[in-house]
Amino acid sequence: MARRWTNTLGPRDVTPEAVFLNRRQIIAGAAGAALVGLPGAGRANTLEPNSWEDITSYNNYYEFGTRKDDPEKYAHMLTTEPWTVRIEGMVDRPGDYAFADIMQEMTVEERIYRFRCVEAWSMVIPWTGFELADLLGLAGAQSGAEYVAFETALRPDEMPGVHYNVLDWPYVEGLRMDEALHPLTIMATGIYGKDIPNQNGAPLRLVVPWKYGFKSIKSVVRITVTEDEPPTSWNKANAREYGFYSNVNPNVPHRRWSQASEKVIGTGLFPTRQDTLMFNGYADEVAGLYEGMDLSRNF
Ligand code: MTE
Repeated sequence: MARRWTNTLGPRDVTPEAVFLNRRQIIAGAAGAALVGLPGAGRANTLEPNSWEDITSYNNYYEFGTRKDDPEKYAHMLTTEPWTVRIEGMVDRPGDYAFADIMQEMTVEERIYRFRCVEAWSMVIPWTGFELADLLGLAGAQSGAEYVAFETALRPDEMPGVHYNVLDWPYVEGLRMDEALHPLTIMATGIYGKDIPNQNGAPLRLVVPWKYGFKSIKSVVRITVTEDEPPTSWNKANAREYGFYSNVNPNVPHRRWSQASEKVIGTGLFPTRQDTLMFNGYADEVAGLYEGMDLSRNF
């Protein structure tokens, strides 16, 4: 298999676990305080009109509801054991792969991936998991394939949110094959050294750190290796605002807000704002994938 990812971030860069787990409250508190203009708000960079919505809608798992606290409240209903991932399409060994067997096969030593993850707020999360490339290798992805499609479980009995047509269920995502094979692209099974919580996508979810909020499809049950560009849930929901590439590009504003800066989680009630970096700071590793593409068109 190709090169492995080496962490450039150290343990001290990681967002403290308590801050990560409580980020909804921290974000809500900070936004609320800034909106009502509490003392000190002068130090906070004034929030733009869309911010409240940005903040409360980015951290989500719509299968459990669209309210910010819904995933925390309801995701425990999801049965994650046993779990099976169907891998099909242009692979030599299609089939139903039991999660337990996948874990057995991914013999790479316990790896921690400390990734900067930006979704209007930025944090550094220590994920555990394995490279997607290894899973595609296990199934024998064929050389002519150009894309990989992903699908989340759809279980109306366990997912109260899917009774509402806010998205076209099941939730789907896709990557181009070179994005999928990049060593930064992982299937995460844990955070902070523990199994991944249900609301974060147990038992396994995709993490593409240079496109964190978009491509990070949770609780994956199907992976299809294909020739055609697969549909993605946000693009289906709003094609004007979300393309296949989902670049959080600081130079290309989203249609309703700037993408030029982000707030740093864990820097207090009036958080530090910093410039958003191209490809979320991973340009050295991934910019080459998009060479020659107009990212203002391929957004
Ligand atoms: N996956 C599924 N199945 N359903 C969702 O609603 N939301 C996405 C992504 N993956 C979503 C999903 C969005 S918009 C974001 S910002 C991230 O998950 C949030 O992941 P986190 O809660 O672990 O930070």
